Amino acid sequence: MLRKIPIAAPKLSFRKILHALISPSCRDAEIKKTLNTENIFFTNSGTSALYVILVALKQNSQKDEVIIPAYTSASLLFAIKKAGLKPVLCDINTNELGLDGAKAKKLIGENTLALIATHMFGIVNKSALDLKNDFPDLPIIEDCAQSMGSMFGGKLTGTFTGISFFSFNRGKNMSAMNGGAIAVSNGTLAQSIGKEIDALPKPPIFSSVVIAMKLAVLKIITLPHVYGALDFILKTMKERMPPDDFKAMRYTCFQVKLISLMISDIQPLSEIRYRNSVMIAEKIKHTTHAGVPIIAPNMRPAPGRLPVLCQNRDELKDKLCKSGIEASPMYYMTLNQRFDLGYKNEDFPCANMVAEKLLALPVHYRVTERDIAIMVKLIESCCYR
Ligand SMILES: Cc1ncc(COP(=O)(O)O)c(C=O)c1O
Repeated sequence: MLRKIPIAAPKLSFRKILHALISPSCRDAEIKKTLNTENIFFTNSGTSALYVILVALKQNSQKDEVIIPAYTSASLLFAIKKAGLKPVLCDINTNELGLDGAKAKKLIGENTLALIATHMFGIVNKSALDLKNDFPDLPIIEDCAQSMGSMFGGKLTGTFTGISFFSFNRGKNMSAMNGGAIAVSNGTLAQSIGKEIDALPKPPIFSSVVIAMKLAVLKIITLPHVYGALDFILKTMKERMPPDDFKAMRYTCFQVKLISLMISDIQPLSEIRYRNSVMIAEKIKHTTHAGVPIIAPNMRPAPGRLPVLCQNRDELKDKLCKSGIEASPMYYMTLNQRFDLGYKNEDFPCANMVAEKLLALPVHYRVTERDIAIMVKLIESCCYR
């Protein structure tokens, strides 16, 4: 088969890559304006961004616990551990796929340093954000790695709690191959974060050129016909899990410039993600064994990939693959299943269910109406039993 829709396809332009390469600049005014923040900092990954936030928070506190969802990227765990802190797992809310706010509330105690509201699949983790009303002094960090462009009540994620981080890795809504950003409103915390970042090692010399070349290749290989033709080779190269350790580094000015050039596209691209997601959700709503999380009326998610919960996830994945559509179960295991953190499986019933049933589908700008029709038909045939 020649044409294959990749699960993620960041929109990249050769012109912008070249422009950023020949005139790199750490000028970040456009990014600050879009994210409505005075203070923005960059690192080499979203994981490093979280790590830096936690180290800065830890400096002014004796508390050492960080509450995170049991179903999310293992990167959160690695950042918490590297910062010398203790992860406290909480079950998720199946409507939001992020932290269950009501359950998290019971875990907040005198040792809680921070709580991470994860906007998984671009769905706003509203129940976790709402904890700010009950705990105004508790730092609630918005994890926007999967939600660049998602909105609630007309406001972008990352602008709700005063501390947030983003990821620009290659599978994200906006990609500069790798990278992370921190947006923070509190001036004192911003100063501590700034100092931590200044102490990080610089990226290796020539990394801008290497990354620019990788981005050009990424643009070409995510073209559906090239992706289909290279399917066999690409399958063997995909990483399943993030590495257990990471090196926090500063960012290149080339990538800051590239993000500044790309950020104006975020709104139209998010619109496409939203429209494609709603189209699929509407068409499968009668399918009793499949479902997408409920989108609240004033929420406008921009899913990097659309989560569908399906009884026969593996069958659906195989059939989609044979029809030229890549789909991904994301995380096969919850964090407590993957790591020995001292919990029992029964502690996280919703996270377990989602890890078993979730299949993520592509909804990016290269997905056509024909692709959506194929996805809907296969969801109906695999999940309507
Ligand atoms: C929810 C979530 N948080 C954090 C991260 C970490 O971002 P990065 O890959 O840039 O380190 C990811 C990456 O996949 C993620 O999905």
